[in-house]
Order: sequence, then C-alpha cells, then structure tokens
Amino acid sequence: MSRQHIPVRAKNIVLIGFMGVGKTTIGKMVADKLYRDFIDVDIEIERRYNKTIPEIFAQHGEGYFREIERNTVIDICDNKQCNIVSLGGGAFKQEAIREKCLDSCLVLFLDLSWDHWKERMDLLIENRPVLHNKSVDEVQEIFDERQAIYAEHNARVTTDNLNPEEVADYIVEILKLGWELHQPLS
Ligand code: S3P
Repeated sequence: MSRQHIPVRAKNIVLIGFMGVGKTTIGKMVADKLYRDFIDVDIEIERRYNKTIPEIFAQHGEGYFREIERNTVIDICDNKQCNIVSLGGGAFKQEAIREKCLDSCLVLFLDLSWDHWKERMDLLIENRPVLHNKSVDEVQEIFDERQAIYAEHNARVTTDNLNPEEVADYIVEILKLGWELHQPLS
C-alpha cells in the first residue's frame, strides 16, 4: 500500500490499547484541549447501525462486528482529518486497519500494565462481549496476546499512575513537540 501524503498537523490522531485503558475519556480530553473533533469508533458504529456493540455481537457474531469495524475505521481514515479517534481494543487485530491507520494517521498506544488493568476488570465486563464468561487467566491471555498488535504504533504513552487529565496533557505536549519538529509554523 502506498504511503499517503497528509501533512503531519492534519493527520488524525488514533488511540489504541486494551479495553478500558481510557481511550475514550482521554481522547475526548485531548480533542477538547486541541479544539479538534473526537470520534469513538464504537460509538460511531452504534450510531451508524443503530445497535449497541453487545447487541451486534449477540445478533450477528464477532465476525460481522469486525467487518463493520474495519469499514468504519477505513471510512474515517479516508474522509476525516485533524480528528482524535479512539479505536476499539480489538481493532488492531485486523491488518487492514493497522495498515490504514499507520499509513494515514499518528497512532498512539495507551499502555497500561496488567496489574493496574486487572483492578478495573469488574467495571468493564458488562459492555464488553469479548470478556464475557472468561476467567481472569483467560483475560490475561488475551491481554498478553494483544501486546504484539499494539506494538505497531508511532508513540507509546505509559498510563500507570497517571490520571486521565495527566495523560491527556502529556499527549498534547508530545503532539505539539512533534508537529513543531516536523512541520514548524514559522
Ligand atoms: C473490543 C473492544 C471494545 C469493542 C468491542 C471489542 C475488543 O472496545 O470494540 O467490545 O475486542 O477488545 P473498547 O476497547 O473501547 O472497550
């Protein structure tokens, strides 16, 4: 796939990472701080298909969800610029999504350690079909497997011991530094 030539300041900022690391909360904050629009891909899918994510999984299965997830992400990448976009935690399993995002956007990996993540697990299960009927060990297996797909990113942000506001401030800082370095305003 050929590289798209999008000026660095215009590229969408894509947040990746495991379920519940704070992609939506932090993404919204980053968007507010930069006066940009925010898109949560799961919310966008629910809006476009008029069903919740658990309903889509229950009625059509994960395969169908992954197909519409892929189409939605590619559509956003092709038609939006300057947006802050949070991806579902499993989106980067798909090569087409990884390639598209790495080709046309800046991809930031929100990295939370397993020890910190597992404290949040009970709060996350209800709306995450991927976690249903799984033991803690099984979830840890998925968590560990997913680290390989998240390894494909432009920058990693370690979020252990930081609150969402601190993570958002840090992201804004590194974005501004990167923009200035690659596309100075003066
Ligand atoms: C999924 C993560 C969810 C959602 C779907 C599948 C996954 O998004 O896309 O339930 O496979 O990790 P969040 O990461 O926003 O919870």
